[in-house]
Amino acid sequence: MSKVIVTGGAGYIGSHTCVRLIKMGYTPVIIDNLSNTSIDNIKGVESITNKKLNYYEIDCCFAKKLDMIIKKENGIIGAIHFAAYKSVEESVRLPEKYFKNNLKSLESLLDVMQSNNLNNLIFSSSCTVYGSPDSLPVDENAPFKKAESPYGETKQLCEKLIEKSTLFSVCLRYFNPIGSHKSGLIGDRSADKPANLIPIICEVATGKREKLVINGNDYNTKDGTCVRDYIHVEDLAIAHINALEYCIKNKNKSVFNIGTGQGLSVTEAVRIFEECNNVKLNIEFGPRRSGDVSEIYSDTKKSNEFLNWKAKRTVKEAFQSAYFWEKRKILSKL
Ligand SMILES: NC(=O)c1ccc[n+]([C@@H]2O[C@H](COP(=O)([O-])OP(=O)(O)OC[C@H]3O[C@@H](n4cnc5c(N)ncnc54)[C@H](O)[C@@H]3O)[C@@H](O)[C@H]2O)c1
Repeated sequence: MSKVIVTGGAGYIGSHTCVRLIKMGYTPVIIDNLSNTSIDNIKGVESITNKKLNYYEIDCCFAKKLDMIIKKENGIIGAIHFAAYKSVEESVRLPEKYFKNNLKSLESLLDVMQSNNLNNLIFSSSCTVYGSPDSLPVDENAPFKKAESPYGETKQLCEKLIEKSTLFSVCLRYFNPIGSHKSGLIGDRSADKPANLIPIICEVATGKREKLVINGNDYNTKDGTCVRDYIHVEDLAIAHINALEYCIKNKNKSVFNIGTGQGLSVTEAVRIFEECNNVKLNIEFGPRRSGDVSEIYSDTKKSNEFLNWKAKRTVKEAFQSAYFWEKRKILSKL
């Protein structure tokens, strides 16, 4: 059976992708140092798929260890690289931590893949590479603008490193991943204090947080609040399998946006969340937050056409599943 290295496979998006890989007949070889997740996601994937996972608790920054795994495992056809730190807010406080981990983990993987003649790298990039785009919806030809954070800069630098490598590759630029698997067994278990809208809304809905402060209602958008493109993590997971198969078949370097193409404002998101989850959120308007882009949503034509991929789940399904996961997290701690 074809094996795929999945770095960061115990994390939020990685665990959902492992479930999908197994469903599609691939065997993930997971490498994760558990620096920002819990072993429970590995157990969750095992229970969902009824398969024992091939898992190594290793730091990807150590090329020698990666090399040992690749030499030990036979039949690896490619790698999906999720392992990185992802908190925009923390990256502003601790930029070194982000440059070191996010760049080194990729450099090690690239070196080891090249020296073992392994091809086909799928990389977790982000719409943050676009900074504040000049036109919307943003397509893959839009230039990299000044990154809004050290985190965004690491994604820009990583894409450039991949471009320079000899590997066949696909960089997937995710928009705003939310939600979780319907089993409630895997999800975002990161230690980071939520800084993104939907996880914060979920905490307000469960009473963990007193209120939602909407940062800015004077942006030049449809209702003055920021606009984002929310993509269900299960749809996002599928995009990785399509990208891997595309990479193997086309033997080139590509980049694709992965979003719904639909831009939702904060106040629209609040209203839809309240309606579909039957809750009332305590909200308040506050000042703008530094580093926030006013509006960004994806042009998905390229991924629709070349990856044969389109987001299938509605924003309501995504919001319901995000709330479901938040409640599960609370229950599991009781
Ligand atoms: N979640 C988002 O909103 C979002 C948006 C755009 C891009 N991304 C990118 O997608 C990828 C996955 O994000 P996620 O939300 O699943 O985050 P996550 O923190 O849940 O998953 C990342 C995983 O990588 C592991 N890891 C980190 N550094 C490592 C290292 N040096 N060696 C081994 N394991 C390491 C962590 O323990 C974690 O399990 C990241 O690269 C992130 O930057 C995420």
